[in-house]
Amino acid sequence: MTASIIGWAHSPFGKLQDQTVEDLIVGVAREAIAHAGIAPGDVDAIFLGHFNAGFSAQDFTAALTLEADDGLRFKPATRVENACATGSAAVHQAVTAITAQKAKVVLVVGVEQMTLCSGSEIARNLLKASYLPETAGIPAGFAGVFGQIADAYFSKYGDQSDALAMIAAKNHANGVGNPYAQLRKDFGFDFCRNESAQNPIVAGPLKRTDCSPVSDGAAALIIASDEVAANAPRAVRFRATAHVQDYLPLAKRDVLAFEGCTRAWTEAFDRSGVRLSDLSFVETHDCFTMAELLEYEAMGLTAPGRGAEAVMEGWTRKDGRLPVNPSGGLKAKGHPIGATGVSMHALSAMQLCGEAGDMQVPGATLAGIYNMGGVAVANYVSILERSR
Ligand code: COA
Repeated sequence: MTASIIGWAHSPFGKLQDQTVEDLIVGVAREAIAHAGIAPGDVDAIFLGHFNAGFSAQDFTAALTLEADDGLRFKPATRVENACATGSAAVHQAVTAITAQKAKVVLVVGVEQMTLCSGSEIARNLLKASYLPETAGIPAGFAGVFGQIADAYFSKYGDQSDALAMIAAKNHANGVGNPYAQLRKDFGFDFCRNESAQNPIVAGPLKRTDCSPVSDGAAALIIASDEVAANAPRAVRFRATAHVQDYLPLAKRDVLAFEGCTRAWTEAFDRSGVRLSDLSFVETHDCFTMAELLEYEAMGLTAPGRGAEAVMEGWTRKDGRLPVNPSGGLKAKGHPIGATGVSMHALSAMQLCGEAGDMQVPGATLAGIYNMGGVAVANYVSILERSR
């Protein structure tokens, strides 16, 4: 038994302050059900990815999915959380439910509303995804953690400011083609490379353009069994999934080696029989440009310390040998925490069905997705292929 994505929905990402978490959930849930051509009553289980951690006063949000339709009443609905990989945690729960034959149709929703909080609340809430005895009081929230990682990387391998700016410029250029993206502006390399009043330092060597923005948004998927997928309007199959969890305290590991990321990719490649070079594109977790650089190394695109090559040589551009983040990534698209992993799967499914519009990677057949919680603590890889 395999699992397939047979429908999806994606809200715009950005400041959606006239909507509630409930509005966001209900909107994408209804749209995904309609897109998959199923009836709400066909849904066997629901997984909601919602990090929250103080962003929204309303907690215990799994049951809000039932507000999308009375046909969902009494369905088992569970909220799933794994920091910034919360969305993929929900997706992988759905895949497990299908492959374990506990469900034939699963509704997955990812949601977050962040922008109603003040800057200090946002920083405090996000830092809850780090090991607090290590990071309490660190300036600039999670950007402060990645600022320290960037400092350590620069000390070991030399200044990488050009490569980080190139990653930011690439993802912003790609984001122009993404109708759901928060920042649809081609900032260009020079703007991203140079500190300015419009692009100030945030933490360590990281400037504003090295960070994903603070976002509201939601995305949803319908994931189904082979039997249901056979009659669906479209079907994108999970060729493999892998989830690897690493230690939360950074002191217990080498922060410049995303070992959990490497293991997750390796497991997914082994299970799927696919190699990195077979992938048509990768959507990877660029919460900070420094993360994308380290992920090039962790996924095996370059040797440790040489991630810069992948972007400086143009390999990861949309027209390169392995396009990375053709959607614009978290950098341009935005990063509403619980929605991000679901969004990555929805956008990859669009690509594989040839329905990605201006984001389209021509002839895409195989997608790789890496969604990360914390600093490579929760590591989720999915390999997707179009089955029909
Ligand atoms: N990249 C590029 N431009 C950004 C941006 C980003 N990350 N964040 C905001 N902007 C733009 C805004 O669109 C706005 O542009 P405008 O003046 O043309 O409208 C301008 O910068 C100022 O926006 P503002 O919201 O005041 O910026 P800020 O300085 O308060 O916030 C960051 C910028 C980088 C500090 C904030 O986005 C942040 O904290 N990001 C990291 C979030 C995070 O840690 N997520 C979890 C990852 S694990």
